[in-house]
Parts: sequence; C-alpha cells; structure tokens
Amino acid sequence: MSNERGDAEARIEELRNRIRALDKKYYQAADPEVSDREYDRLKEELVSLEQDVLGVNPEDSPTTQVGDDRLEGFDSYRHRDPMLSLDNTYNREDLLAFDQRLRKRFEVEELDYTVDPKIDGLAISLTYEKGTLVRAVTRGNGTEGDDVTANARTIQTLPTQLKSQNPPDWIELRGEVYLTNDEFLRINQEREKRGEPLYANPRNLAAGTIKLLDSRLVAQRKLAIVVYGLGFCDPDSIGSQTELQQLILEWGLPVVERYWTVSGIEAVWRSIEELDQMRGEFSYPTDGAVVKLNQRSLQREAGRTAKAPRWSIAYKFETEKAETTLRKIGLQVGRTGAVTPVAHLDPVELAGTTVARATLHNEDEIRRKDIREGDWVRVEKAGEIIPQVLSVDTQRRGEDSAPFEFPTECPACGSSLKRLPDEAVWRCPNAAGCPPQVRRRLEHFGSRACMDIENLGKAVVDQLVSKQLVHNIADLYRLRVEDLIRLEKFAQRSSDNLVLAIADSRKREVWRLLHGLGIPNVGSGTAKDLIREFRSIDALAAANEETLEKVDGIGSILTASIRTFFAEPKNQKLLADLRELGLNFSEESGEQKEEEKTLKGMTFVLTGTLPNFSRTQATEWIEARGGKVTSSVSKKTSYLIAGEEAGSKLAKAQSLGVSVIDEEELKSLA
Ligand code: IVH
Repeated sequence: MSNERGDAEARIEELRNRIRALDKKYYQAADPEVSDREYDRLKEELVSLEQDVLGVNPEDSPTTQVGDDRLEGFDSYRHRDPMLSLDNTYNREDLLAFDQRLRKRFEVEELDYTVDPKIDGLAISLTYEKGTLVRAVTRGNGTEGDDVTANARTIQTLPTQLKSQNPPDWIELRGEVYLTNDEFLRINQEREKRGEPLYANPRNLAAGTIKLLDSRLVAQRKLAIVVYGLGFCDPDSIGSQTELQQLILEWGLPVVERYWTVSGIEAVWRSIEELDQMRGEFSYPTDGAVVKLNQRSLQREAGRTAKAPRWSIAYKFETEKAETTLRKIGLQVGRTGAVTPVAHLDPVELAGTTVARATLHNEDEIRRKDIREGDWVRVEKAGEIIPQVLSVDTQRRGEDSAPFEFPTECPACGSSLKRLPDEAVWRCPNAAGCPPQVRRRLEHFGSRACMDIENLGKAVVDQLVSKQLVHNIADLYRLRVEDLIRLEKFAQRSSDNLVLAIADSRKREVWRLLHGLGIPNVGSGTAKDLIREFRSIDALAAANEETLEKVDGIGSILTASIRTFFAEPKNQKLLADLRELGLNFSEESGEQKEEEKTLKGMTFVLTGTLPNFSRTQATEWIEARGGKVTSSVSKKTSYLIAGEEAGSKLAKAQSLGVSVIDEEELKSLA
C-alpha cells in the first residue's frame, strides 16, 4: 500500500468517526457542536475521498446512511415508506448538474419542478387513517422512528381530522416540526431571566422538545408544524407535487409560506433567488430551498439511493458571515456558578441586526479555535439567531497577541474557580457570597416555574441584592414595606404588592419550593417525582442513597447532587429559616386530600392510542389520583395501559409479567 493511500484511508477513518460523533450530538442530543456548513464541508471531503480511494459506495459510512434520532423511552414504529434525507448543495453548478442528470435520463429538454422553502426543524411522518390522525413518528434511522404522537398532539395547528369527504384509507404525510423565531426568543428570554443557559437555535430546541418524555412540558413550548411531502398512500391517485400541495391545503394542514411550480432549471434558480429575498419575513427559520421534480411518475422512475431520492435536492443558502474585531473575552456567572465566556465584538451588521456579542461556549472551544483578545474573527449566525465565532484570521494577528488564559478566579467575587474532570465548565464555588449567583438564584426562585412570585423581576432582584437587603431566599420573606419604599421606582403601592406576593408564596405546593432551592439537576419534573415519593422536604433530606436510587428516574448523579445539597450546613440553616418563616414543607398541607388518592403507590406506563384520553390527559388523570406515570416498562411498573397500535412496550410488559390493561380497566381502578 502506498503511503498516500494509507494517509487517505486514515483520514477517511478519522472523518467517519468525527461525523458519527457529530451526528449523535445533532440528532440525539439536539446539541450540535459545529455549524451546518462546517458539518457539510467535512461530509463533502469524506464523499470525495471515499470515491477516490474506494471507488464504490461504501456500506458502513455516514455518507450512505441517514443519521439516527431515536432515543430510549419511546416506542419504535416502522415507516411504511422509508423517510429519506436529501442531498445538499451550496452552489449553482451542482444544481445545474442535478437537472442535467435528470434530463439525460428522461431524454427531455426541460422538466417541471417545484421549489419550496427548506424549513430548519426536524422531520416528522404523520399517519392519517380514513382522515383521522393516528400517529406521529420521527425519522429515526429512516426505516424506523420514535413514536411521538402524544407530543405532536400538543401542536395546536395540527388537525386530528382531515377536512375531506373521502380521505385516503391510509396516508403517511411528511412534514417538519419547528419553532417560530418569536417563540424561540420568548423561551430564551425566560431562560435568561432565570439565569439558565440559552438554547443555540430554534431547530435544536424544536428537536429537543418533541423528544421530551413529558407531554406537559412539550405543551408549554408552542411547537408548530408544516406539511410538504408524501410517504405511503392508499389509494394513491396523487399525480404531482403541486397536486399534493393543494390537497394538503384543502385538508386543513399547515403548508409552507410560499412555493413555486416552474418549468426548467433557470426558472428554478429565479425562484430560489426570490425565496432568498423574502425568507427573512417568514415566521420560521429557512436555511435553503428544496427542489422537487413535479410529476410523481417521474419521481418514481428516477428512484433513490440508500440515503436520498434522486428526484429532489436541497439548495442551502450560505449563512451570512461578517468579520470584525474581538475586543475582549468577557465572563458571565450563572446561577449554579458556571462561568461562561462571551466575545465582546466591535459592532457589525449581520443578517439584518447589529451584533456586538457572540457565544464562545467554554474554555475548550476557545482553545480549539485559538481565539484571542484583539483577533479578527469571522462570525456567523447559527440557525440565523445567535451569533457564534466561526474562526480567527491568524494572518491579521498582531505580534503581541497571546493565547487567552481562562481565569483561575471568579470575575465577580474572586473565589478560586473549579473544574470537575468530566465537565467542560469552570464554576465559582462561592454560592452564598457571589453576587451574580445570588441574583440568579433569587430570580429562579421567584420565577413562574418555581414559586411564581409576581413583581419579583430581574430589575427588582438587582436592587435588592446590590442594596444588600437580601442575601438569600429566606431574606425575601423578611422584607418589610419600609425597606422597599426606599428603592428606585418603588412607591407605597408597589412595595405593598411585592411584600404581599412574597408572603402569598409561602403556601405554594412543596415541589415548587424544592425546585426553587436550585439543587443542581433538579428541574420541575424531578421535583414533582421526588415529592410524590417522599411527601415532604424533611423526608427527602433524610433519605439515604439507597432509598433515593430506588425512585424511578433518579440515578447516581441526582442522588449525589441531592445528598450534597442537604448535607451542606449552610443549606440546613436556610431550610430551618424557611420553615420558621412559615413556608410549606410537606404535601399533606397542600391542596389535595389524601382520600382522593386512589392510585397512590402505583406506577403506570402508557402505550398506543387510547380511545378517549390523549397521553397528556391520561397522565394528568392518573397523577391527580396520586399515581405515577413513567416512560418505560420495568419490573416496578404496576400496569401497562395499552391502546390501539401498542408498540414494543407491550412485548416488554408481557415478558416481564407486568399486567396489561385498557383505558376502561384503568378507570375502574380509581
Ligand atoms: S422534502 C424525500 N421539503 O430537510 C424528500 N424536506 O435535509 C423529503 N425539509 O429530511 C423531503 N423542508 O426533514 C422536503 N420543504 C421541504 C423541507 C424538507 C425541510 C427537511 C426534511 C428532510 C431534510 C433533508
């Protein structure tokens, strides 16, 4: 073997591994490490190397396989027609070549195409049987996907019935689940208020949301959907893509904001340019155009590769980039003490807005890209929203430039920073005395997801902390109207209102208090689970490792996090103070009466479609009676509630000897 060939093969291996790792982050964690463009470049390099060196289409390569989005906790469903990906291109030549291949094949001068926006969300397949929505499934590995029907049902614009007198017996429609730019901004603003890390872009947030195991959380984020394609259909008399678009509209399903039906590739090109001009006004992020051969008979004839149809191509717009100087690397301290680096830029115009800040993620990212203060940097908007630093122009680097040294001390309070071996972030350990941490903890405590204290916004918290009126959560309950009146913009009435709102919160359900304490990794879902199990903060505080780990869904990380929190003398003092101040510490004193909890101690898993309940409704119904709903079947499951088209969970329950009941039997238990 020549050296060159050996090098190429080594590079192929390296690229395959890197792409597989990136696929995993993109499809499963919904947390991409690099921009789409960067990813596509790696893939292009791999495709061309594989062709040069191996000559044939390799079987075991990410270039010939669809990425896999499947996760634990969902039923699997096999698509009747596979869900493919699309070939991507970024240039006009590739587009012309695509048309030329097809014209050659059909021996014609000109072909009819449709052009529609490529929506940056995640692919979904919707099955309607005789006009009724029965299932929503993610792409998965293209052959089998995750059944996310319960979550899809929370999408308000998704009809459960097609508007049609004679709908097909069976139809799989293909579309995209997405978040509007506005909804994305709203969610991030809420997170910012609570001092939580921001989501990078709408696509990842949408992908992460549809994969949440708790449909109630899904419903809190307004997902949207658009339908643009066809899978299996019976009977199938749809003659063209244009006809399909018209049917989608007639049936009352959401369609793309605009599409074009045109003849010839030049007209396709003009449509793409027009789309590029107008896409800024769309409510959703659009990262390209999808060109499709219009006639379905020709589509079928053109066929497909293992990964993508030969009759369609995605033309991706280059994301806008700009160059500017990075003045300074600033540092932000979050609620849990995480210290995040932020690039302060000379303001520059980018995709319609002025950009002065960009995320730098963490120390490793800065080192990998060798980003330094004073550098010329290229910035890009990831998913068109949050700017990122793409790369550094090292040619323009001054002689006195030096690598960035991540500080060893907290920029806010001076404590020595710590970094755990398996974490990418540096943290400030001075939880009680570091002002930004204190502020963010108070904001979190008062937020809607926790104690829901009206009027305790960011600006108020800022003042309370900087005037040293409040050092911790307990101090909130000690505030008096006289203290507040002296603050800026505080009149008698607003002071009265805030003191009242704080006092009012003392009787909130105990899981809200637990969530508000800000124990690392304990979100609202976990807080509810813990309270359902232990009934009170005291019982939770007293629980040992063994007892904690027995709770479904609580693993070793959470156990350690909970134990550490309650073992800390400062936290014990805080809890004693809160109790003395009259906060509700146990479930019994809450609203629900014990005798109504007929399903107490029982654990349920839901699968398939129930006749009268959506999954969310069934979950609420069970929880209201003291029962618990989990996502996967185990020996601890009391009952599997199976509806129609129950999936793999049914087999699992049967193999474990878990009782399987239907909706009616469930109702008779209560
Ligand atoms: S048609 C077989 N039309 O892009 C062809 N796809 O990169 C099916 N996408 O998997 C795709 N907008 O999730 C089509 N208007 C559109 C689209 C679109 C977004 C997604 C889809 C697909 C991916 C490929």
